[in-house]
Amino acid sequence: MTTASSGQPADDLQADLVIVANRLPVDRVTEPDGAQSWRTSPGGLVTALEPVLRASGGAWIGWAGGTDHIEPFERDGVHLVPVQLDDQEIEEFYEGFSNATLWPLYHDVVAPPQFHREWWDSYVRVNRRFAERAAQVATEGSTVWVQDYQLQLVPQMLRELRPDLRIGFYLHIPFPPTELFVQLPWRRQILEGLLGADLIGFQTPGGAANFVRLVRQRVGHRTKSSSIYLPDGRVVRARSFPISIDAAGFEELARTPGVEERAKEIREALGSPEHVFLGIDRLDYTKGIYARLRAFGELLRDGDLTVEDAVFVQVATPSRERVEEYRRLRDEIDMLVGRINGVYGEIGNPAISYLHSSYPREEMAALYRAADVMVVTPYRDGMNLVAKEYVACRVEEDGALVLSEFAGAAHELRQAWLVNPHDMNGLKSVLLAASRATARDQTRRMRAMRRQVMEHDVKHWADTFLGQLSAVPVEETAASRG
Ligand code: F6P
Repeated sequence: MTTASSGQPADDLQADLVIVANRLPVDRVTEPDGAQSWRTSPGGLVTALEPVLRASGGAWIGWAGGTDHIEPFERDGVHLVPVQLDDQEIEEFYEGFSNATLWPLYHDVVAPPQFHREWWDSYVRVNRRFAERAAQVATEGSTVWVQDYQLQLVPQMLRELRPDLRIGFYLHIPFPPTELFVQLPWRRQILEGLLGADLIGFQTPGGAANFVRLVRQRVGHRTKSSSIYLPDGRVVRARSFPISIDAAGFEELARTPGVEERAKEIREALGSPEHVFLGIDRLDYTKGIYARLRAFGELLRDGDLTVEDAVFVQVATPSRERVEEYRRLRDEIDMLVGRINGVYGEIGNPAISYLHSSYPREEMAALYRAADVMVVTPYRDGMNLVAKEYVACRVEEDGALVLSEFAGAAHELRQAWLVNPHDMNGLKSVLLAASRATARDQTRRMRAMRRQVMEHDVKHWADTFLGQLSAVPVEETAASRG
């Protein structure tokens, strides 16, 4: 297949705003008649950036998944520019260096990171391909915004090719403390790669501070609060920009009669218990799914909850299934769910309703509306948008959010029931406290969290970042022209 596009091939296209991300904002779908088409991917990033991209005739460079060669095409006023990966690159760049080296290293080494030199070589090669594509597409003096840990070398590579550009970088996952980051054999290259950007965004102030400290200690550049002074006169800013969701979109969806009706149906199908606990995650070992289900199982064992009055619905979306740690996790969760249901479940009353699947936004909104207690317990998470989606969908200002202290969202959602997911007894008592909270307490907390989420949506995030990037003095950007 050379193209699955619904629009015009546009190989010579030029754009004033270019997003560079590992994945394109569309997923390929096969219609019943076998024809290929594209569907917009779920997720806030696309929602936030599509309007600005459309208004500026912008372009999005990314991998379409798979190994097919696909020509650039246009969709809803946005130019989509696929970058091709071959099987070996999927294994070494995507599954390997991105998701078995950087992912665990940046998430507090929850799983041991693997360091392989050939994975690194592949990471360099693929990053160069993305940078070269961006250099072809961006017009003179325009803005390129690079996304996430898979592409940390792109800013520097792109600056070498095109010193006229304004370059932004945003890291969607945590940036680790010095002690962990320095394990990486290629730590210096990654820091220098990122320093190619004019503005580097992190989820939390702690992530930005970790980065600035590392640059001072390991690269030797002078720094002052969020500014880094490079020898060539350029100033790089590293700041926090907490990402968010299309809050109004979720709220509107949650209010539709169809979603309200479906939420009732879900509760009835679960046997109309008093307490519905809910977890929704990618099936990832950073998310603390095992810990929360174990805590729930122990509450049943201790008699603090019973299957007549409580059920745990866990949605686990399949993810990165060819990576060893993810396969192991799936088996462990399958076993735990089987054990808890086998011991405590009854006919018509399972303890855990476990769904290894992904669902459309409408079904997610209905689940959020059906749940009394939303349980978000990652060991480490850049932000965690599920927590924000739950809040946006609680239009009646009720429901309880149990949230890990180690999710970026905990900085903003201070009124959640905060918990340390490593502390099993603490987790159990927080689950109970949240489920037994008075309606008044729930409303007080939910109202404050809703205000935060509605006022700081993903549009606010994108506007703030792009606003600060456009304020970078052009002379500074051009100072590196040499
Ligand atoms: O930032 C985390 C992230 O890489 C997101 O960009 C992405 O939506 C999610 O994890 C899923 O990852 P993958 O692209 O590996 O399926």
